[in-house]
Amino acid sequence: MDVTKLISKAALEKEESRRASRAASNIDFSKLIRMGFNEHPFGMSPKALEVIIEESKTSNLYGDFQKKELTEKLADFYGLEPENVLAGAGSSPLIETIGCAFLNPGDEVLMCPTFAAFIDMAQIRMATPVIVPLTEDKVYDLDALYEAITDKTKIIVVCNPNNPTGTYVGKEKLIEFIKKVPDDILILMDEAYLEFATASDCVSMYPLIKEMPEKPIIVMKTFSKYYGMAGVRVGYAMGNKALIDAMKKCPGTMISKAGQAGAIAALADQDYYKEVKKKVVAGMTYLEEELTKLGCKVYHSQTNFILFDPYMDAQEVRNALMERGIMISAPNICRVSVGKMEENELFIKYMKEILEENALKKEA
Ligand SMILES: Cc1ncc(COP(=O)(O)O)c(C=O)c1O
Repeated sequence: MDVTKLISKAALEKEESRRASRAASNIDFSKLIRMGFNEHPFGMSPKALEVIIEESKTSNLYGDFQKKELTEKLADFYGLEPENVLAGAGSSPLIETIGCAFLNPGDEVLMCPTFAAFIDMAQIRMATPVIVPLTEDKVYDLDALYEAITDKTKIIVVCNPNNPTGTYVGKEKLIEFIKKVPDDILILMDEAYLEFATASDCVSMYPLIKEMPEKPIIVMKTFSKYYGMAGVRVGYAMGNKALIDAMKKCPGTMISKAGQAGAIAALADQDYYKEVKKKVVAGMTYLEEELTKLGCKVYHSQTNFILFDPYMDAQEVRNALMERGIMISAPNICRVSVGKMEENELFIKYMKEILEENALKKEA
């Protein structure tokens, strides 16, 4: 059967999703220590978990289609109005919602190397992802992005702190950039990891929604990372009413009953997350110090993962770790997500072995 004629022009022409190809791999991740997906090593708030378990008992029912309580709680949390908030089943589906609401064929979506879903978002709408290199220090290059603006630029994606680099752009530079960008370009801030940041100038851009109403800005956040709820699927976008209203016309914004209740409980349990962040930060410091001692080039991170150059083939490192039971990510260089301390220690022990073996191989 030839299904080619059935497939949309966009899907036919689109390159394979980098995300889909990863998901399709035949590795049984359940048998590995997962240090490759930037998941939360300590899990969600016990209060959120309790609510999710309870709410799941009535999951034969749909969740609130309006997501009224969650939307109000999020708006309160940020000092915005409910009309400024749109929640969905994670930020990945909301990225698709944004593509649906704002992109036409031929539009350009500007970004530096970042989360691959933004490439999908552009290509599936027959828009063009324009990818501008990072700076030498692997920081999002705002000057180069600005230079790359054309009359076709519709969206500029700024992931801050960025995945897969973990690096960030400080408040002052970011605001200066946003002010400079023409007002007919949507600035899409992805802040999936921002709550893990410790640098005082690594801050959210959500206040600009009120402070710069003339600027089309959408700030995206997720409960998957800092709130430890990746498998529950809740994320949200914030922006001015006209932008949010356009998104509401598009699919991708239904959330399960348990997800809505769990997110509300998680948001209310900030004390738990503040405590557990200390352990994440301690793990990050340990990984950064130990990888540096092993001679790797480490990029200082404001997230729950670290990009490092082992000065040997990244795939080889990934495979050697996998054989030992640890999964990391290796786009071109390596990215390791922070684990529990015993997992971090095991990872460092294996890294030492792998680097020593490689050095011996080179000598031979
Ligand atoms: C930068 C960034 N944005 C968004 C997401 C999507 O998160 P989710 O769909 O789980 O909310 C991820 C997931 O890894 C990410 O790294």
